[in-house]
Amino acid sequence: MFEVLSNETLAPNLHHMVLRAPRIAAARKAGQFVIVRAQSGDERIPLTIGDADPEAGTISLFVQAIGASTRKIAAASPGDCLRDVAGPLGLPTDIEPWGRVACIGGGVGTAVLYPMAKALADRGNEVTTIIGGRSKPYIILADELGAFSKDVQVTTEDGSLGKKGFVTAALEEMIAEPQGCPQAVFAVGPVPMMRAVAELTRPHGIKTLVSLNPIMIDGTGMCGGCRVVVAGEPKFACVDGPEFDGHLVDFASLTDRLTMYREHEEQCRLAV
Ligand code: NAD
Ligand code: FES
Repeated sequence: MFEVLSNETLAPNLHHMVLRAPRIAAARKAGQFVIVRAQSGDERIPLTIGDADPEAGTISLFVQAIGASTRKIAAASPGDCLRDVAGPLGLPTDIEPWGRVACIGGGVGTAVLYPMAKALADRGNEVTTIIGGRSKPYIILADELGAFSKDVQVTTEDGSLGKKGFVTAALEEMIAEPQGCPQAVFAVGPVPMMRAVAELTRPHGIKTLVSLNPIMIDGTGMCGGCRVVVAGEPKFACVDGPEFDGHLVDFASLTDRLTMYREHEEQCRLAV
């Protein structure tokens, strides 16, 4: 059992939870995730580890409460316990001394981006962060990212905060800057966003890493649920990823697989 120490609402339906999980806190590296079940028999939900404090024995998770199972996890109050938190899983982010890097977060994806961007800055990279959302309430972690980024640029679709438009417009401007292209781009967010970022960087030959979030079940490479196609080859996001070269990902098949259970998910959501 894993005790919930705090649970705060960051944005509509987005919770930041801190859990007691000493062994995971000691072992976790940036980019890794856990699989959570609120109670025995529940659906397994993969969640990126936002941060960890090995001394305190705690990890933090960002939970988007959109379906029946994520709403159940997000409803846990301090003092409650979650039944299973398995991990750390997946490969850590490839943290190299790239130089000038752009970290792009779309909506809830910004929560997944945060530990990657922090690890890149800790490695001495010059991090420009670009985060976007539908409107001001959906912009998260701007101050936290600002603590280690050279610059944080914000975009909203309705113009209620920062520049009006998509994150890709801000990236396009960065690529055109006189000091030249960033050496690497990390993008996390909705699939159409990651696909658009990859198409933008492709002609410039900029290394582009995206974090994929296909359906996951066991998280250990056994079930095949998280299969994605990368460079024409099947890969399992839970053991080969979740980060992949954005120029090699088959985004069309990823979109198809993500929408496969939409009707069933909606039925479960309405049943709760
Ligand atoms: P959203 O749809 O509100 O989009 C957030 C921002 O992403 C937009 O404001 C825009 O700046 C950018 N964006 C979206 N579509 C774009 C496009 N076609 N071109 C360029 N930029 C675009 O995001 P949300 O509702 O917060 O996110 C929900 C989605 O994110 C879900 O599908 C969820 O599965 C996914 N998600 C992915 C990850 C991951 O690890 N990749 C993590 C969390 C959530
Ligand atoms: Fe089962 Fe990845 S979640 S193989």
